[in-house]
Amino acid sequence: ASMEAISLSPPMSPAVILTQDDLKKIAAYKAVEFVESGMVLGLGTSSTAKHAVDRIGELLRQGKLTNIVGISTSKKTQEQALSLGIPLSDLDAHPAIDLAIDGADEVDPHLNLVKGRGGSLLREKMVEGACKKFVCIVDESKLVKHLGGSGLALPVEVVPFCWKFTANKLQNLFRRSGCAAKLRNDREGKPFVTDNGNYIVDLYLKKELGDLHIASDSMLRIAGVVEHGMFLDMATTVIVAGELGITIEKK
Ligand code: 5RP
Repeated sequence: ASMEAISLSPPMSPAVILTQDDLKKIAAYKAVEFVESGMVLGLGTSSTAKHAVDRIGELLRQGKLTNIVGISTSKKTQEQALSLGIPLSDLDAHPAIDLAIDGADEVDPHLNLVKGRGGSLLREKMVEGACKKFVCIVDESKLVKHLGGSGLALPVEVVPFCWKFTANKLQNLFRRSGCAAKLRNDREGKPFVTDNGNYIVDLYLKKELGDLHIASDSMLRIAGVVEHGMFLDMATTVIVAGELGITIEKK
């Protein structure tokens, strides 16, 4: 990946302490600079992408962007976009998307991603897989050496039917990496249900997975697996906002 570093402009005085949400907003606003009138846009689902969608809505309202069509990656983003007056369509009508902007949970040095801790990975993978450009926006806390390396989950969307069977298969598949598979629950302690009516099994790994493409293919061969949260070779650009500035990495 090639890299370009940009200082925050105007320069922040050392006295200004940026919150993680400020960094997310800085990355999101930078990504929206790639948006042009007339584009079909994939709209991501995350606390970072939310800032990008807000900004697109603002530019539309101000007349600085026109003729945008949004393709949302979740019901939540669909509601946000509708409330901002962003015209929406879907992949059936627009199978080729110009640009998508979305967050990620982990980014490795090859710009491979883990996504789905927000639970929207299936629609995100469908939409972002149909894009000419996928700009991923993160704060620097998301950078990892190896996917699954943050100690946090690698999410897998599974069908509810006999989910324990599928979770066991996943855990066995990655037993050499010390994998523990856990069903994700919602705040009330009931299984978290995705926009597609499925469950999420979170995989916690103690060691790296080795070849990620093999890991990906192996997961997808398990019959109860719908999709997983490793996004390999999909991001064309990653915008990272940190305390010292913005870094733009391109494939
Ligand atoms: C949702 C995702 C999100 O992009 C990911 O969880 C990052 O979210 P945030 O920007 O809120 O940290 O993949 O399925």
